[in-house]
Amino acid sequence: MEVSRYRPGEDDEPVLQGYDVPLMPDWAVLDGLNYIKDQLDGSLSYRWSCRMGVCGSCGMTVNGEPRLTCGTFLDEYGDGPVRIEPLKGFPVIRDLVVDIDDFLAKLSSVRPWLVREGEDLPLTTEYAQTPEQLEAYKQYSMCINCLLCYSACPVYVLEPDFLGPAAIALAQRYNLDSRDMDDRFDVLNLEDAVWGCTFVGECTQVCPKHVDPAEAIQRYKLTAALRSVLPWSRR
Ligand code: FES
Repeated sequence: MEVSRYRPGEDDEPVLQGYDVPLMPDWAVLDGLNYIKDQLDGSLSYRWSCRMGVCGSCGMTVNGEPRLTCGTFLDEYGDGPVRIEPLKGFPVIRDLVVDIDDFLAKLSSVRPWLVREGEDLPLTTEYAQTPEQLEAYKQYSMCINCLLCYSACPVYVLEPDFLGPAAIALAQRYNLDSRDMDDRFDVLNLEDAVWGCTFVGECTQVCPKHVDPAEAIQRYKLTAALRSVLPWSRR
């Protein structure tokens, strides 16, 4: 494996460091990194937690593509080398660890909660939903915030102010929920939000959870255009 090593402030630029890792048939890339960390070089820094494609913390660039390292197997790459670099588009904190503050701020900016207005009901009030109403937003709720879609997005890599795929898909997760009363028009109908997307579609291609942010963005463009002629239209 070739692994990017970088300590900003100490190193001028990242360098690839090679490690010999046994090619075990059931080893994911993350197992290879853990082998390096445990057996060869304890100074290597990277993030992971669940090891089963749920927490979203182990996203890295594997042979040039954004991948979850716990769900990408070493034997996909033959005898190697397998090159591991941090996700593109994010500042590197150390080695394979990137700064996700901008991403988290973008998620928060779309009001990712159910917005209700004009009610004075107890917090225990239930809002029943049909299976069809659940289906309308369910795919967007599968996002694990792994950042792969941002790293694959050519707009975000060039224009860091772009709201980006996961945040827009998250907004649609609530916009399309029958219990929600917001449409997040003020944060989505912007040049740096849905109108910044050039519909390359890489975000959808790399999503490990089969969320379709590209569809979410195009769909909201239609919503926003309709709203400009029919102000009462929300979805
Ligand atoms: Fe949790 Fe990979 S370690 S998604």
